[in-house]
Amino acid sequence: MSDCVRNERHGAVAVLTLNRPKALNALDRATLNAIGSAIADVAEDGSVRALVLTGEGRAFAAGADIAEMRGLDPLEAEKFSKLGHSTFAALEALPIPTLAAVNGYALGGGCELALACDWIYASEKARFGQPEVALGLIPGFGGTSRLVRRVGVAWAKELVLSGDPIRADEALRIGLANRVFPGDELLARALAAGESVAARGPLAVALAKEVIEQGQDADVRTAHALEQKTFGLVFASQDREEGMDAFLAKREPQFQNN
Ligand code: CAA
Repeated sequence: MSDCVRNERHGAVAVLTLNRPKALNALDRATLNAIGSAIADVAEDGSVRALVLTGEGRAFAAGADIAEMRGLDPLEAEKFSKLGHSTFAALEALPIPTLAAVNGYALGGGCELALACDWIYASEKARFGQPEVALGLIPGFGGTSRLVRRVGVAWAKELVLSGDPIRADEALRIGLANRVFPGDELLARALAAGESVAARGPLAVALAKEVIEQGQDADVRTAHALEQKTFGLVFASQDREEGMDAFLAKREPQFQNN
């Protein structure tokens, strides 16, 4: 494991911490590759039930690494964008809930990284934004697509076209952040959410996530049909039997992920 990303376990929850605090956790190629390899480790480890992603120091991530990007030619820049996209797509495709605990700046690629997580908890000190136009760039790691889906086209356009950051309370108001906490509570709250969801039926959680992801890109009839098929499919699982039996017997379920 590269030291620019720490991978720690808290029970069934994996915590990935971006660890380049002197550069405000700017995303260079090494850090993107380290995130990718940590995600692959999490995907391989069937005992991880939720993932929390956060940053060391005063930033979640202040964007793609501007010093590294400065010398790229157009083809190298496209390759860099593809690296960010493939890394974030792997994060989004994890079959477990992923939670960004945004402890400070989440700008540019940092905001896009948070957007690739299923939901976002923010510290009161967090700042969100897509400031790329201030550098003469456009977002390159999904800001023009995931941000639109998360907050709608009007807010996405204001954030991307103005380049101005917003505070945590505004991010909460527009639906970018799900919840806001005092900075010293953020990680504990994120871990508690991860632990709570880790106790749910893992197969059902994974399938529900997949149906939401696929359904939002489909027309509504296809999305409904996908839900109906998957609802039926889940009845083939032992976890479904266990969950319903446990409810009827007034006991806690023991899910086996099968
Ligand atoms: N890339 C590289 N280094 C960065 C960085 C970045 N995105 N953001 C901050 N740093 C570095 C600074 O260069 C500085 O390094 P030195 O100490 O060696 O000088 C260190 O982190 C601390 O930063 P500041 O001194 O600037 O701290 P500040 O508190 O005065 O300002 C900030 C904080 C407002 C976040 C400011 O650092 C900033 O504006 N950063 C850039 C934000 C940005 O433009 N992000 C978008 C990048 S482009 C992108 O992400 C494209 C994409 O979609 C793929």
